[in-house]
Amino acid sequence: MESLIACESKTHQGPPFPIGWYSVARKSELGKGDVQRVFAFDRELALFRTRSGVAVVTDAFCPHLGAHLGVEGRVVGEAIRCPFHGWKFDASGDCVEIPYCDEIPDRAKVRSWHVSETNSDIMVWYHPHGTAPDWEVPELEELNSDDWSDPQYWEFTIPNHVQNIAENTCDPEHFQYVHRMESTPPSEVNIAEDGRVLHMIADATAAVNPNTLHAIMHNPGLAIVRTVYGPNAEMMVYSTAQPTTLNETHMRWTLTVRKEIVDLVGDDVMRGIKEGINDDMPIWRHKIYRDKPVFCKGDTSLVGFRKWVKQFYVN
Ligand code: FES
Ligand SMILES: [Fe+2]
Repeated sequence: MESLIACESKTHQGPPFPIGWYSVARKSELGKGDVQRVFAFDRELALFRTRSGVAVVTDAFCPHLGAHLGVEGRVVGEAIRCPFHGWKFDASGDCVEIPYCDEIPDRAKVRSWHVSETNSDIMVWYHPHGTAPDWEVPELEELNSDDWSDPQYWEFTIPNHVQNIAENTCDPEHFQYVHRMESTPPSEVNIAEDGRVLHMIADATAAVNPNTLHAIMHNPGLAIVRTVYGPNAEMMVYSTAQPTTLNETHMRWTLTVRKEIVDLVGDDVMRGIKEGINDDMPIWRHKIYRDKPVFCKGDTSLVGFRKWVKQFYVN
């Protein structure tokens, strides 16, 4: 009885932040010497690009008197200078200079996050214990290929936990009720041999707009979705997530289509998938998280997703 009450409470938080790679900005938004404030994982971070071009993410608050490095902090060479008393921190987070003192205290450090700039976004590795990444962000050839259109970029904020947004991809039954598909496409969820990468395939070749959808999920919020409408008629959506709080997630999408269809239907298919998100919004805005949902035999994809997602939490 007790767990039921906890689950139905409006303030119930659901799972913590899952382990994985998450975006904090577009690469193109951060020039050399730029400094930004970032809010992610319910905490403040500082993002800057050194003069040589390295993107750095650190915890925001200076170990000295706690100024926010991402607000009025200044890039000096390969370091960031705190706006309050000028202490400088390098890309690894070590204090390398105190302008008015020769001796640097041992504890003068900020935590520096693991950063990846593969593809379109600046990504950080989140692990609740600060453990280093054990896999890399997959590189997508489509984003640098002459066979694919120049990418379109789109961002939106969803009032829900990143796991619930990912779960939606493995939920073929909702296509019919939320997205007005005429029937539920036969679908399957497979987990790659290493156990970490999830593949969801939905075969909608019998639909009014026939297509096959293949979603590849590397961690909750990091997904590549390829939709094939016919020979050389393909769309790819690269989706990254910035969990801001446990109940809010900022999504960044990078969309591209094969050159063969860019003028024909490129904008239409990309607009269609963007608009699909609006259908999900009322559900996401009001749903609670069920830790132990009542599943039926038809919910195989969802059951597969819930088994897969466990690995992104430490016990
Ligand atoms: S608070 Fe950062 S140098 Fe003093
Ligand atoms: Fe949906």
